[in-house]
Amino acid sequence: MTQARQHNIQVVAHRGASEDAPEHTLAAYKKAIEDGADALECDVRLTADGHLVCVHDRRVNRTSNGRGAVSALELADLAALDFGTWKGREDAAESPDWGDPSLTSVLTLERLLELVADSGRRIDLAIETKHPTRWAGQVEERLLHLLGRFGLDAPEAADDSPVRIMSFSARSLHRVAAAAPNIPTVYLMQFVTPRLRDGRLPAGARIAGPGMRIVRNHPGYIARLHRAGHRVHVWTVNEPEDVELCARLGVEAIITNRPKQVLSQLGRL
Ligand code: G3P
Ligand code: CA
Repeated sequence: MTQARQHNIQVVAHRGASEDAPEHTLAAYKKAIEDGADALECDVRLTADGHLVCVHDRRVNRTSNGRGAVSALELADLAALDFGTWKGREDAAESPDWGDPSLTSVLTLERLLELVADSGRRIDLAIETKHPTRWAGQVEERLLHLLGRFGLDAPEAADDSPVRIMSFSARSLHRVAAAAPNIPTVYLMQFVTPRLRDGRLPAGARIAGPGMRIVRNHPGYIARLHRAGHRVHVWTVNEPEDVELCARLGVEAIITNRPKQVLSQLGRL
């Protein structure tokens, strides 16, 4: 993997080491840290009583033994659910055992920030605001407030911030940029729409976050983003040939469900 060694690519664990452990749980994030990931990705949503929790889907049905929308449930309701057993159920002879049940209960963003703070090494966080229109600014407000409690809301240098905020919503990033200009923002994109074609991003967005499909189908677009002055963070990069392509194109970060395999491919293990 000579190409991949040529520059430092940040390896970001997508929802934790989510291929090996149930996504967005302490089990998955602890595994990612053990595996040596440089950064952790997580999606955040607000509960009915205003807590930020790390859950990808609007509803808890897929990743827990409960039902309902995160926004309609209180933290205590979520805390009663099991977010671990679903994972691997299809190929396990019996329910998988993830050890201590507290490792697979709902994860608050606050607990994740504590885990990172206690890790003893620098681990960056890429936090994604999920569909924040419903709460009209509350997600960003509470997120920045929480980051402030950990001293992470006003990095001295944006280029060296240990936290960045990502979203498919330009409006969400705009709110973040207005309130905390030194926190880097990542504009996630699934398609290269006509407005994005020249490599420029919406106001408030600093870093480009194209999906791997864009990279495969329009590799020349990555150079355009770089020429426009944007760093490029690609999701979700799981296959060796995709890691190789990203490395060849000089992307700055790879977001993957398999941090250990990617680090190994990059010659870092
Ligand atoms: O890291 C960005 C990526 O997570 C966006 O897609 O659906 O996995 O949140 P999704
Ligand atoms: Ca995400």
